[in-house]
Amino acid sequence: MHVHDLIAATPLERGGAIPLFRQLYARLKDAILHGVLAPGARLPATRELCRQLGVSRQTVLAAYDQLTSEGYLRGGVGQGTFVNEALPLARQGPVAPTPAAPGLLRALSERGAALAGAMGTRRFHEGAPRAFRPSMPGLDLFPFDLWRKLEARHLRRPGPYLGYNAANGYAPLRELLCAYLRASRGVVCTPEQIVITSGSQQALYLLSQLLLAPGDGVWLESPGYQGASAPMVVAGARICTVPVTSEGMDVAYGARHYPDARMVFATPSHQLPLGVTMSLARRLELLQWAAANRAWVIEDDYDSEYRYTGAPLASLQSLDRAGCVVYVGTFSKVLFPALRLGYVVAPPALVEPLARAKAVVDMHSAMLPQAVLADFIAQGHFMRHIRRTREAYTERRGMLMDALQDRLRERLMCGPADVGLDLCTHFRPDRKGRIPVEADVAAAALEAGIELRPLGYYANSAATPACAVAPGLLLGFSAIRPDVIRPGVEILARVIEGHWPKR
Ligand SMILES: Cc1ncc(COP(=O)(O)O)c(C=O)c1O
Repeated sequence: MHVHDLIAATPLERGGAIPLFRQLYARLKDAILHGVLAPGARLPATRELCRQLGVSRQTVLAAYDQLTSEGYLRGGVGQGTFVNEALPLARQGPVAPTPAAPGLLRALSERGAALAGAMGTRRFHEGAPRAFRPSMPGLDLFPFDLWRKLEARHLRRPGPYLGYNAANGYAPLRELLCAYLRASRGVVCTPEQIVITSGSQQALYLLSQLLLAPGDGVWLESPGYQGASAPMVVAGARICTVPVTSEGMDVAYGARHYPDARMVFATPSHQLPLGVTMSLARRLELLQWAAANRAWVIEDDYDSEYRYTGAPLASLQSLDRAGCVVYVGTFSKVLFPALRLGYVVAPPALVEPLARAKAVVDMHSAMLPQAVLADFIAQGHFMRHIRRTREAYTERRGMLMDALQDRLRERLMCGPADVGLDLCTHFRPDRKGRIPVEADVAAAALEAGIELRPLGYYANSAATPACAVAPGLLLGFSAIRPDVIRPGVEILARVIEGHWPKR
């Protein structure tokens, strides 16, 4: 192929941010690497090419010089310029086009394919939260100015912790966190038992890798949290779905159907998405079963700071006498998700392996945010922020429930909303037993300007047989400014009405 044809196919961009010689250099290099310009091929003289392309001779000279000094071209004054035939890549002829995704997946290892596919259906939202984005704290309430000042203070006097550190995290933060967990969640621990992780997601990944062998059974609540099932699937675990009733995970069902399971993943304080809290009787039943069967229980306590009615139940870990509960927490809901700070309170024997595994993955979590967070807690801002957000969420939750009661009480049933950031709703069948298709409602809602999550999203696709989830919608209220809650419910009411089956 002639160079001017090559450039004509994708013309140089004039007046853009990238200088013309750089663009010409990149095109020629690409053509050489892909075998479009064959080894030994002669390139046009600089005067000829600059005329053909309508660029200055300097542009062509600069591109040729760069390619020559990098070894793509050879030549000299008066001898002509050639594609270097000594390039090993060039001798192989045209390289295959970049494989499309399915081809690439075939190239992955079995473990790689599991890793790449495990969170495949998880949806990430972009842009400012709209009514009723679930599982998001109110970023409008976070004291970012204060956070910036605390951070600036650390950067003005950089401490030794800005080098490499122990994998378990910033010691002052672990101490403060330990005191907080003991006081507020009844967690029985010492600072040495805490390992700071990159969100609870990393905690679940590390624990799955450390504790599960391929084929090991894991009880998972159904419906439940995809962020938990994904790392377990990656570890090769057998996913054992356990139904959730108004008292939480049905422990007797799990014990009957999967007596040999090695691990239980549970959200006793607040089940996602159904919103129930595990009863004391179920907690004791679960602990007894786990102790008798030498199984681990992963307790995911992610948003229990937000309890709106009644006294909170202490953590499951606080009742554990056998040392089988691994407590996992996060700052994603109580502060903000992009902070990526979570933690594990591990039984003593598990602390060292966990910290070593953490070091393999990322040495340790970023230190500056940990140091800022330690100050944020030590100076009382953390508890103040929890109080403030709890009050704001109480108001937002009340507004959502009132608006739903006014506009949609005949169409939606609200689940428990004593804890957390979301409200779980189910469609109320009409007299003929009809309900709309939740996915259609969610899609139409998005077009109408609101966000909803169908409960089917929490069905576990890794389970066999796939579990059925009673249709409904999860509505988040915490991230939504009060003035848009009622208008959002108006839109929701119109969308639901529009999708209610008529015959
Ligand atoms: C059940 C549950 N656990 C934990 C988390 C927090 O995950 P992370 O700490 O990785 O942000 C979430 C967030 O949505 C969640 O829903």
